[in-house]
Amino acid sequence: MNKPERYNRIHQQLQDLLAKSPNSFAAMATTSAVLFHKFPYYSWCGFYYLQNGELVVGPYQGPVACQILGKHKGVCWAAIDSGKSQLVQDVEKFPGHIACDSRTKSEVVIPLRNAEGIVVAVLDVDSHALNSFDDDDKAGLEKIVQLLEPLQL
Ligand code: SME
Repeated sequence: MNKPERYNRIHQQLQDLLAKSPNSFAAMATTSAVLFHKFPYYSWCGFYYLQNGELVVGPYQGPVACQILGKHKGVCWAAIDSGKSQLVQDVEKFPGHIACDSRTKSEVVIPLRNAEGIVVAVLDVDSHALNSFDDDDKAGLEKIVQLLEPLQL
């Protein structure tokens, strides 16, 4: 199965699972668990959400991560501030990258919106290898996060 096919299958699976509860935290937990266990090249997969102007860690799978991300720096904040997905092939080349896990080499971050269309959270996926993510990952994950929107925090 190629990547778009895998993401489509996971989208279908998550659609069925997320229909069981309207709770956004249950949806974030379920999504991170499913994704993390389906893609061997993911080293970490989870959510950060805005609370009182800070980016706080939400449900995730993988090694222990930073609980709060220093304001307006790094990849997650770039997705929040720009409202656009961030595809980073080499984190060393991303100014201000926050290394919660020093083994992280590449990552992709997708913004999530609330009912007003305001970005209130991100899905962050990391890998221990360079160049792990491409436009297929970005497109697949962008479609999957739509299942969680509008996000209610
Ligand atoms: N790499 C992210 C920080 C979060 S973790 O790696 C789990 C960033 O630069 O925003």
